[in-house]
Amino acid sequence: MAGAGETVIDSQSTHVLPLEFQRRYPVLVRGDGVWVEDASGKRYLDAMSGGSMAATLGHGRKDIIAAAKAQAAKLAYVHNERLTNPAQELLAAELAGVAPGGFTRVRFVTGGAEANEMALQLARRYHVDRGDSGRWQVISPAQAYHGPTMATLALTGRPGLKRPFEPYMSEHHHIPPSTWRFDPTGEQALEALDRVVEASGPGTISAYFCEPVSAAALPAYSPPKRFWEGLAERRAKHGFLICFDEIVTGIGRTGHWFAAESLPIVPDIIATAKGLGAGYAAIGAVLCGSHVYDAVAGGSRKFTLGHTWDGAPLSCAVGLAVMHALKQEGLIERVRERGPQLRDELAKALDGVTMVHEVRGRGYLLGIEYVDPRDGRSYLPPDLRTAGRVDDVAFENGLITYSTMPTRDGFAGDQTLFAPPFTSTDAELAEMVARYAASIRQVANELESKLQASPVA
Ligand SMILES: Cc1ncc(COP(=O)(O)O)c(C=O)c1O
Repeated sequence: MAGAGETVIDSQSTHVLPLEFQRRYPVLVRGDGVWVEDASGKRYLDAMSGGSMAATLGHGRKDIIAAAKAQAAKLAYVHNERLTNPAQELLAAELAGVAPGGFTRVRFVTGGAEANEMALQLARRYHVDRGDSGRWQVISPAQAYHGPTMATLALTGRPGLKRPFEPYMSEHHHIPPSTWRFDPTGEQALEALDRVVEASGPGTISAYFCEPVSAAALPAYSPPKRFWEGLAERRAKHGFLICFDEIVTGIGRTGHWFAAESLPIVPDIIATAKGLGAGYAAIGAVLCGSHVYDAVAGGSRKFTLGHTWDGAPLSCAVGLAVMHALKQEGLIERVRERGPQLRDELAKALDGVTMVHEVRGRGYLLGIEYVDPRDGRSYLPPDLRTAGRVDDVAFENGLITYSTMPTRDGFAGDQTLFAPPFTSTDAELAEMVARYAASIRQVANELESKLQASPVA
């Protein structure tokens, strides 16, 4: 992955248990704005906000660092089980102030999977406290990612992610995504939902759990309007809750505080994480509508399970500074206004590259989907690992991207996420687009000769 002269760590020379054993890991040592630098001094444009879409404000923000330092000096840590602290209280109020109407309560956690798992527990608590304890199963789109814990892995339908851990997982239900390839209107997904509800029994379903706009699993994809309307009708009829995984989309990524704002449906529970700490603190949150809170308040009055770092002063102070910066600098408005233009610029720069099927997105959550250029429709042959090659070439060209090749799961092929920090200047965005387009053209050229020897997938 790393080019000449860069310092890399490989699985033979490290004590870290790596995620991918065959990968060589470039060593990044500092960051400044939308740039990061490796140990050899080579600089890269960070088109993925820290690689995971968390670093929404870029690197080296003095205001966030100062807020963390001040809080650490005053009171870094107390546990929220029997104690609270001003930073937790203030951040909860701030979040309730920007959340969809009726979302009045917030519980903090330390990351995305924890937030999703807490949302799952809260949905179950809601039903149990209303005397409806038969409800526990979840319906979710198969092509999704909700985290690596056993409970959150069980919420995806991707065998490639789950297989070895399946003995630990509860059985939930999955429906196919309503993408252009499978179900452009969303009607088939609604029919699949109906079949699952009927087969399982409406009284067994606790929640429908989904990303309102997908992240890595289907970059920047969101189901058509009809699907959301049909989902709301079925919630009203069958009594399950709707949980939105806004781990990526929450706190501005799509040009709204929450992506829910831009959809014709209001969820009951929202889980968010990455952008709340903006890469400066490990923090996530679960937010719920007052009807969910009221059910627990009028029932067991308990929602007691939590983690050591939930609501800690240090991470909440960072969250407050992040929200302050987003408001003060009008960054969410900037993402909302600039996002469509960025999408058009990407599409224009990729014009004529036949393996690019679509450039889609909302705000600064953009996705590029690749197809086999020979028919403009099929997945690329998986053994060519085209998306992986995109990331490698981009990296050589000084650009950080994130691509996925989940073809074996059946619902998606090679694709790339493009998710820059909200603070990127026009010139930086233009340079990211230029480096990305140059990388794609190089990969497309290489692909041409490889495809001559390969059957259509
Ligand atoms: C949509 C989505 N949900 C959940 C998660 C899990 O979050 P975390 O890695 O913070 O546990 C991720 C992480 O990438 C994600 O993209």
